Amino acid sequence: MYKIAVIPGDGIGKEVMEATLNILKALNIDFDFMFADAGDECKEKTSVALPDKTIEIVKKADACLFGAAGETAADVIVRLRQEMDLFANLRPVKSYPGTNSLFDDLDFMIVRENTEGMYIGDEDYIKDELGNVTGATAKRVITRDASERICEYAFKYAKENNRKKVTGIHKANVLKKTDGLFKKIFYEVAEKYKTEGIESEDFYVDATAMYLLTRPKSFDVIVTTNLFGDILSDEGAGLVGGLGLIPSANIGEDRALFEPVHGSAPDIAGKGLANPVACILSAVMMLEYLDEKEAANAVDKAVLKVLSEKKTVTGDLGGKSTTMEMSEAIKEKIEF
Ligand code: NAI
Ligand code: MG
Repeated sequence: MYKIAVIPGDGIGKEVMEATLNILKALNIDFDFMFADAGDECKEKTSVALPDKTIEIVKKADACLFGAAGETAADVIVRLRQEMDLFANLRPVKSYPGTNSLFDDLDFMIVRENTEGMYIGDEDYIKDELGNVTGATAKRVITRDASERICEYAFKYAKENNRKKVTGIHKANVLKKTDGLFKKIFYEVAEKYKTEGIESEDFYVDATAMYLLTRPKSFDVIVTTNLFGDILSDEGAGLVGGLGLIPSANIGEDRALFEPVHGSAPDIAGKGLANPVACILSAVMMLEYLDEKEAANAVDKAVLKVLSEKKTVTGDLGGKSTTMEMSEAIKEKIEF
């Protein structure tokens, strides 16, 4: 029996979550879904966007599924990542048929450091002697521990998932101390995995932004610092055709949260127009994390079939089906 904390959140978060639970309930796996509130509506009702009770539930669970929040998204998701120390952000770049993917057969994983780098929020104003603001600074922190932890995670992921190569991305020619350290640690970890047959290479982030467009198939697993990972993973989402399709995972030492990359989409909320695939594929990542590999595979294949057929898909994919109709179609195709 798996305890799953379920936070539908706001807007289409609720709709894609319903569509996803419809799939999970069809699997022959024992789940205990523990529902919890967070987001804009929760804040209106209770005056807090992320109640302590929700954090409690999430900490008790084996994994957490999160839909989307609205304007309070940063308060909710950033805090959840901190509370649970979810240090690795996994963003797969995988092309599915029947979508706006720019390339066929793309399949690589971006592993982004989630706890430090440019996003520690340590900013300051620069002032002249009269106190006028003349500029601002942002501190960027790279530590040995966090770099080691994320590189180790990426190589271990490669090994366990039959991947052949890990690419470390940085800007060590300019950011000599911070990214110099990240690059050094990347190769220390790489050395350990050489004997396991995992190759390694490194590129500058600017060159990588181009390579993702010119030769994306050369990537297998990418590991990088927080800001670079944020930017490159959105570029990756663009490569494979849109927000309605892109799942993600936030992984800690013994906790994990899975969520579609998209937000609450107020423009289409409440109308059954949302594509449920991003959330369903987030649940697939959760099944993999729980070591339910066969179930994960079965749901992934069912999604693939429905997308290929293009008969029962939502408006963003050129179809006319509702969120739940698409979920039902996927459910029917599951062979598990
Ligand atoms: P968004 O991802 O909600 O929507 C962007 C565009 O993509 C919209 O046109 C929307 O209709 C479309 N879209 C998104 N998901 C879709 C799906 N599953 N199927 C079909 N179309 C889809 O981002 P936006 O508009 O920037 O933000 C809306 C709200 O969501 C804001 O309040 C923002 O703070 C919040 N947000 C929350 C996130 C989270 O909870 N992790 C992430 C991003 C935004
Ligand atoms: Mg982003």
